[in-house]
Amino acid sequence: MSSVEHLRQRYESAGQGHLFAFYDTLPAPEQAALVAQLEALDIERVNRIFTKAVSAERDLGPAAGPELIEPLPEDAAGSIISDPARADAWRAAGLAAIARGEVGVLLMAGGQGTRLGSSAPKGCYDIGLPSHKSLFQYQAERIARLEKVAAEAAGKGEKAVIPWYVMTSGPTRSETEAFFRTHKFFGLDPKSVIFFEQGTLPCLAMDGKVLLETPSRVAVAPDGNGGLYAALRQPLSPADKARTVLADLDARGIRFVHSYCVDNCLVRVADPVFIGYCLEKQADCAAKVVPKAFPTESVGVVARRGDKFSVVEYSEISPEQAERRTPAGELAFRAGNIANHFYTTPFLHAVRGFEDELAFHIARKKIAHVDVSSGAQVKPAKPNGMKLEMFVFDVFPHTQRFAVLEVPRAEEFSPLKNAPGTGADDPQTSRRDLLAQHRRFLEAAGATVGEGVEIELSPLVTYAGEGLEAVKGKTFSRSGMVESVEELDALV
Ligand code: UD1
Repeated sequence: MSSVEHLRQRYESAGQGHLFAFYDTLPAPEQAALVAQLEALDIERVNRIFTKAVSAERDLGPAAGPELIEPLPEDAAGSIISDPARADAWRAAGLAAIARGEVGVLLMAGGQGTRLGSSAPKGCYDIGLPSHKSLFQYQAERIARLEKVAAEAAGKGEKAVIPWYVMTSGPTRSETEAFFRTHKFFGLDPKSVIFFEQGTLPCLAMDGKVLLETPSRVAVAPDGNGGLYAALRQPLSPADKARTVLADLDARGIRFVHSYCVDNCLVRVADPVFIGYCLEKQADCAAKVVPKAFPTESVGVVARRGDKFSVVEYSEISPEQAERRTPAGELAFRAGNIANHFYTTPFLHAVRGFEDELAFHIARKKIAHVDVSSGAQVKPAKPNGMKLEMFVFDVFPHTQRFAVLEVPRAEEFSPLKNAPGTGADDPQTSRRDLLAQHRRFLEAAGATVGEGVEIELSPLVTYAGEGLEAVKGKTFSRSGMVESVEELDALV
């Protein structure tokens, strides 16, 4: 029997033989492409993932009973809102770890920004700041500044290095890499910026049958930001199979990792306060939260399921749970997940041991495909199929020592989710929140900023308000952007 026949039989036994529906009629190159795609696919795993996702949705979803999920106990989280004085000690410990070269950063940038309505990777987005810097540039410059601050705090001449691991996906990889190259890695050493790619999974019909995008191509989608963990084990290049992100973390002696979403203009990349807090708690994994603003806000909430921590995603929380209030009138589920996580490197290694136990989540979507019986292209008007996604926080219940840190929203969270002009979580609110923070930085340093004046401080000037002693007593009456403290004098 030919190898194609073997493959066809394997797919038939797996109940997915329809993927060969057009095979015999295809030109040879397309036959080869389809066979290559089907050979690379672990179809039995896809079936297992589907079965598990469907039963997990039944057993764990809101329909299974809200009593399974409980809000975070009052004392479960540390807080720099109610206890700002502690932040200094945490910052010092975090900076010391950075200066020792033990801290790395993982950026999740594999999402497609569908709600934003832009096909470019979200990190390239210009939120309309005076500098027109992209989100990627802001993050890069925060890393550069922090490397300097940490080295200074440790009295080291050389700057510390914080390697930046950028997770992309099929749809975002080449554009992301090209953007970094065009912008000369925003001044960072390209050797410390490591791109890697998350996996994909086939899109399925509601009954679990894999959908064909064309007669010779399976419809696929990125496997969710939880694809991060498996992607850490993949070779960074086909030429060097041993070099993976995990191997690179080990080779560099990185012990602590901060991961975050690309779309938050206020993100404190490699936040030393968070790192220091997690070190004090001896956490193997941790999450930052902000008080959830209103019941329907699109943020997951950190909660308890039995004696385990988990995040209940906004797409999966029941309206009753979302609306539930404490006797004091606060939202019961209010530990809003801002997708800023901490891991020890050993924990990232350990994920492999329990990954198969994790259930994927089902996102029901409109998926364009070819009808295998008629050969017609179908562009559905309502959800006709599913994408399967692992969420990055699905590992939380498997942690040994989990920690939660509550941080002020105005300083740390303003996500870019929606198209311009939506009025919430859009480019205008991102711009507004970042510039408001820069005003607060200047005012906290003792300056006066005139009504309506907008000053953008490069992250190379200040990471979190530090280094602005020179502005004390000055009054700024002109708007503008600065790349150094000295340039501020022109705005007096
Ligand atoms: C995410 C969180 C949610 C949190 C919110 C805060 C997850 C699953 N959900 O929701 O709990 O309250 O952010 O803003 O983390 N990404 C990939 N690969 C993918 C899909 C997404 O790398 O396959 C990346 C995106 O590029 C982005 C991040 O993951 O950086 C979050 O993705 P997004 O779809 O924006 O998540 P939300 O639904 O907003």
